[in-house]
Amino acid sequence: MLYQTLILGAGAAGIMCARFAGSGTLVVDHARNPGEKIRISGGGRCNFTNMYAEAKNFLSANPHFCKSALARYTQWDFIELMDKHGIAWHEKTLGQLFCDGSAKQVVAMLVDELKDAGAELWLQTSVTSIKRTDQGFFVTLDRDGKTQTITCRNLVLATGGKSIPKMGSTGLAYDIARQFDLPVTETRPGLVPFTFSEDRFKPLAGVALPARLSNERTSFDEALLFTHRGLSGPSVLQLSSYWREGEDITVNLIPELPLYDLLREQRQVEGRRDLTTEMSRLLPGRLVDHLTQEFQLKGRLADQSDAALQDLCNKMSNWQLTPSGTEGYRTAEVTLGGIGTDALSSKTMEAKSIPGLYAIGEAVDVTGWLGGFNFQWAWSSGHAAGTAI
Ligand code: FDA
Repeated sequence: MLYQTLILGAGAAGIMCARFAGSGTLVVDHARNPGEKIRISGGGRCNFTNMYAEAKNFLSANPHFCKSALARYTQWDFIELMDKHGIAWHEKTLGQLFCDGSAKQVVAMLVDELKDAGAELWLQTSVTSIKRTDQGFFVTLDRDGKTQTITCRNLVLATGGKSIPKMGSTGLAYDIARQFDLPVTETRPGLVPFTFSEDRFKPLAGVALPARLSNERTSFDEALLFTHRGLSGPSVLQLSSYWREGEDITVNLIPELPLYDLLREQRQVEGRRDLTTEMSRLLPGRLVDHLTQEFQLKGRLADQSDAALQDLCNKMSNWQLTPSGTEGYRTAEVTLGGIGTDALSSKTMEAKSIPGLYAIGEAVDVTGWLGGFNFQWAWSSGHAAGTAI
């Protein structure tokens, strides 16, 4: 069969690309349903973009690469599409936009758009082999157990990264890129919880508080959540993308709490109160129990000198921890690294050395922060390739 364009992967990027590439486009996916990650994203409400999306919210070996695509299909373009389809949305926090109803509305909207544009979608279809020809590409597919061969001028790699293999993530795009001698930068799990050895934080599982997490590269002020296996919550997921195996992280448990002043004041008024009792009025009790051991807190407020209170605050704002690892691709929201941006045009996403071969979405070495940035990259890069085709 002859198609102008074959898109591998009916996720966020692939469907968006098909919408702009239009008729003569076939999208294939091995899953039963398109856009499965959209469906489960944002707790079922899909954090579909971020009002403040810009290049600084993305990690890549080339931090400038994402600029062109983001500028030509912005968060406001996607919001306009949502509004056109009458899908209600709201800002949750920090510019993060979520559906009022269900993420399934976003999937349905994109599939409708794909069909309206005249593109076709084949599900439960896997790729058997790809060969380059004078006219483009010759691709063998397995559709529901039957072999299908496709000749196409353009081939778009949109099969995402390796995160959550249970959802059908395979790393296929990286294998095809290597087949065509495109570079693939080191891939690793991003936006992923940290683990700690010996159930270190097990007694704290479920405790949450605002915190500042940092390392020498960056810092994030968002919620911190203790889990049975270690640390999670937005601040942790954000920092995980900037963390390397074996490195320390710094946790500030009191980024906005004027603890020193509060304890000094209370020392005047309630000097006979236990230090830990006072601390439990300001911070989650189970955390204070844990810190009592960790920082060897004891005595009444009146027993604490200014220097001792200052020392306590320093420990609270500069807690050094060494994660033993992360939960890995099993729970990572994204894959860092991927198809090297040097090999691609930032305007069209086309491989510089292989005309007609494109890579978009998470498969490319562009990874967003938590907060709707990854979908924005999928929409923007899908648009860039789809309009160039
Ligand atoms: P995506 O992974 O969406 O699509 C790839 C498609 O290719 C899939 O349909 C897959 O089945 C198919 N495929 C893979 N291998 C194949 C093969 N060998 N043969 C055929 N088909 C194959 N981001 C965000 O901005 N806001 C959010 O709220 C969330 N929430 C979120 C929650 C969870 C639990 C996860 C795991 C991730 C998120 N993300 C997110 C990240 C976001 O889902 C992700 O960045 C985008 O889905 C990437 O879009 P792509 O289209 O590139 O890949």
